[in-house]
Amino acid sequence: MAYYSDELVEQVRMSNDIVDVISGYVSLKKKGANHMGLCPFHNEKSPSFSVSGSKQLYHCFGCGASGNVFSFLMEYEKYTFPEAVEALAERAGISLPKVERSKEEREKEDTRTKLYEINKEAAKYFYMLLRAEPGKKALEYLNGRELTEETMTKFGLGYSAQYSNDLYQYLRKKGYSDSLLAKAGLITLDERQGGYDKFWNRVMFPIMDQRGKVIAFGGRVMGDGKPKYLNSPETMIFDKSRNLYGLNFARASKREGIILCEGYMDVIALHQAGFDNAVASLGTAFTPGHANLVKRFAKTAYLSFDSDEAGIKAALRTIPIMTQTGVHCKIIHMDPYKDPDEFIKALGKEEYEKRIEQAENSFLFEVRMKQREYNMSDPAEKNDFYRQAASMLLRFTQEIERDSYIHAVATHYQLTDKALKELVREQAAKGAGIKMQAPLKTGAQSKKKTDGLKEAQKLLLTWMIEEESLFDVLKPYLGPQDFTEELYRQVARMLYEQKAQGHVHPADIMSHFQSEDEQRQIGELFHTELTAAKTKQARQQALKELLITIKKGNIEKMSSGAQSADMNHLMEMIKKEKELEELKKITISL
Ligand code: UTP
Ligand code: MN
Repeated sequence: MAYYSDELVEQVRMSNDIVDVISGYVSLKKKGANHMGLCPFHNEKSPSFSVSGSKQLYHCFGCGASGNVFSFLMEYEKYTFPEAVEALAERAGISLPKVERSKEEREKEDTRTKLYEINKEAAKYFYMLLRAEPGKKALEYLNGRELTEETMTKFGLGYSAQYSNDLYQYLRKKGYSDSLLAKAGLITLDERQGGYDKFWNRVMFPIMDQRGKVIAFGGRVMGDGKPKYLNSPETMIFDKSRNLYGLNFARASKREGIILCEGYMDVIALHQAGFDNAVASLGTAFTPGHANLVKRFAKTAYLSFDSDEAGIKAALRTIPIMTQTGVHCKIIHMDPYKDPDEFIKALGKEEYEKRIEQAENSFLFEVRMKQREYNMSDPAEKNDFYRQAASMLLRFTQEIERDSYIHAVATHYQLTDKALKELVREQAAKGAGIKMQAPLKTGAQSKKKTDGLKEAQKLLLTWMIEEESLFDVLKPYLGPQDFTEELYRQVARMLYEQKAQGHVHPADIMSHFQSEDEQRQIGELFHTELTAAKTKQARQQALKELLITIKKGNIEKMSSGAQSADMNHLMEMIKKEKELEELKKITISL
């Protein structure tokens, strides 16, 4: 974990003139004291984007975007704050302090650097082959799929030669060792045969991370062979669940939302048609890691999956993952065509644009798909379906939202709002929604103690972020040091600091952590949906239980600590025990 001191950040900011930096992205013209240009954050025909050299700020009079040189890069490049600092430090030739690293870590970093290099070399080689004699058939194939030269270049498409060790020989000559090549996932080592290529005689799709670095490949047979696609295995630089094909372009798109489709070819066809916000997962199912990635760039995901059963299944699996992460989902229908690629070829981009506009709300899609399981001409089954829909509606814990969905579903199935609402109420009473509305569980009873403690700390933090007033309510009982989980304690410290200065901004905290694992855990913290108990009393009780679990856990930790025989330590523990006993007696009022 590395984050930079305020002084250093300020130094980096002052060494990068905002007019210079933004000029690298937007063409600016001097107008009076400011520089004006077309806003990169919304579509416009006359310039309303102003950059001030004296203030070192930008502002768009059209869309209201504004900020400093860091926020510009965060907004434009979708960098996290540390990434923006790093990019600008590099630009200004300022070296940032390297976190002390062990020999092992340095070696790991060196290997990673080499793996990037190897993938880049391979991509260049495949690229060259496609455009040379050996790649003739491959080029014909791609032409046959109506890809323009421009598109092929943009996506860096290539070709892997017919010989089974062509790339191996090429990269060996460049000086890379067998073991590195194997680690890059491009070569398989065989005791007798030596190294042989993973990909041969395939059209090659370089897979890039969001910064545009090649991290892996997908290779397609030309024609009907099997498997249709081969993909690089996961490597030190390729994590399938944290990358999306096309995101390096989609991140800079001005289009609203993101289009998620299933295949490489779909992404490419969509980009070629101007839908430059299309991405796809990499031959694996969609994961929460993907959803978090999407969330960084868009509020809405348009699912543009194949129209067959597999596509519907994939959509039904993807929707809850998106929704739980806080990304709205809409479903683009492509019937009667199979996928976006075919659709666009057949009907063109204007029609696809219409389908985006007509995209279906994901909940209504889920209900409609559920309905297919019932024979609606049978009154009993029909009734069962209504009940099923009613219990699905219980997901919406807010009344206003629930009512509007009740209205939408009722209208669609020709029920009155009143009748459906009554069913929803019945289902709620029956306990169909109990899981949703149960009071907060500390989890302490069921899981192992340490898990329970961790879980309690997590829940409480999440709750505090959602309900800032808890900081004041809990002030007499709880401070950041009470979070014994290292990561949570760091987050708690920052939250308390922010709160002391006004309000909490979870977004800032995220940018202080760089490892993916930390970001994932913190993301979880911020996106967990709490379904708090309904009555004030139950909420107070739940809160108290959380506090007690945490305090108890702390005391247990203390008593097992190394200095447990130390007198001061003992006194401290006794004090804490007393506090805990007190805590059990009082009512925390919300
Ligand atoms: P599709 O079969 O829909 O591929 O699989 P596609 O991208 O539309 O390709 P074309 O149009 O048939 O050429 C969707 C995605 O699933 C993964 C790939 O990522 C592919 O893009 N996949 C598919 C594999 O990894 N291996 C396979 O054998 C097939
Ligand atoms: Mn396809």
